[in-house]
Amino acid sequence: MEQRGVFGSRLAIVLATAGSAVGLGNVWRFPFMTGQNGGAVFILIYFACVLLLGIPGMVSEFVIGRHAQSNAARAYGSMGHRSWRFIGYLGILTSTIILGFYAVVAGWCLQYLFASVAGQLTGDAAYVIRYFQTFSADPIKPCLWGVAFVLITHLVVSKGVNDGIERASKLLMPLLLILLVVLVVASCMLPGAYRGVEFLLKPDFSKVSGNVFLEALGQAFFSLSLGTACLCTYASYFKRDTDLLRSATQIALLDSGIAILAGLMIFPAAFSVGVQPDSGPSLIFITLPNVFQEAFGAVPVVGYFISILFYALLVFAALTSTISMHEIGTAFFHEELHLSRRRAAWVITGACVLLAVICSLSVGAYDGLRLFDMPLMDFCDFLTAQFMLPAGAFLTSIMLGWFVSRRLVQEEFLMGQTHDTSRMVKRAFFHIWLFSVRFVVPICILLIFLHQFGVI
Ligand code: PHE
Repeated sequence: MEQRGVFGSRLAIVLATAGSAVGLGNVWRFPFMTGQNGGAVFILIYFACVLLLGIPGMVSEFVIGRHAQSNAARAYGSMGHRSWRFIGYLGILTSTIILGFYAVVAGWCLQYLFASVAGQLTGDAAYVIRYFQTFSADPIKPCLWGVAFVLITHLVVSKGVNDGIERASKLLMPLLLILLVVLVVASCMLPGAYRGVEFLLKPDFSKVSGNVFLEALGQAFFSLSLGTACLCTYASYFKRDTDLLRSATQIALLDSGIAILAGLMIFPAAFSVGVQPDSGPSLIFITLPNVFQEAFGAVPVVGYFISILFYALLVFAALTSTISMHEIGTAFFHEELHLSRRRAAWVITGACVLLAVICSLSVGAYDGLRLFDMPLMDFCDFLTAQFMLPAGAFLTSIMLGWFVSRRLVQEEFLMGQTHDTSRMVKRAFFHIWLFSVRFVVPICILLIFLHQFGVI
């Protein structure tokens, strides 16, 4: 077997891992979740989840992956007891399911990118709604776009860690940031945009309910790619001297910053033309094409380019995330079943193509494809974000906090903590982190689960 890949530099580590974190979760899911859950209050709770549970959870996965330098299942299995492998299997399953339905939305973005270029998204509001309905009800087109997205992901992943993942992230992440800033500036300059900014930044505490906590937790985990063993797999390509706490903090801040920027791109424009912020998942496919046209109606060519930039941004963001979801399973089949990397990638691609087609049909041509009264696609989103991701993070913290040798964990945590902090400060950080992993993370997740099942 060829040598395992290692990310070439600190920048590559941050860009690739942030590439996994930053995706449709930030630009599509975060804005509509914020819109549906009362704006600024949701954002505050979301930040609390990132700080209290997200960063400690990320460091936990980093510790496991970097220590084992292998795929997720073997990494978990090497932490003291072979049976912990099942957490790795759970992660591989979760990320494959997410890739299946995520590719459908990413495929819609691809279609909308081409439609923007061809100037097909111009027309009155009724036309834009009809456009989305006709497209999503088509039995073939959305499936093909979803499958195309999985295949593009396959191409990158089968090229390997350095030539595929690292290169794609180094190119796409800066592009994404530039596009985002251009769009935020354009959106905030519209008349009446301040109401959108206010919606994002001024909390209304009357909107707080148990459900908001649950949604914010699911969103934080989904957005940070936590609980899928994705971070564990990427950390297996980190250098031995990478400072794990620092990297996790940088990535979490970058991810949250980009989510806020995405809100600042969408809500000011929406409020400026009097559109309600709570229109749900279709926000970026029905609401925004209208917004672009109305907001930039005076100079239609600006609206035309803004629309292209926006969907290009979504496609880039989605791609760096689908690459990471694909890599988890690919690394597993490559290293455990000794398949070549290409073949291993085909196994995951095959499974995801199948799931993407079923999910796509469930929200389009065959609405009979339902589970628990939800279209299969919504069910997959619900099952992973609100159940499997928190479960993965919960099990990881229990294992690491209570069962793995403390010396091993401490050594791995402190390795590479070289920058300006004295040994005492480093140790203090370690104790705070360990406390979170042992108590804060599992107890918070448990409380939220109990609430979800109506026990409290
Ligand atoms: N974090 C990604 C996003 O925000 C989604 C993701 C989830 C990626 C799980 C990998 C694993 O879009």
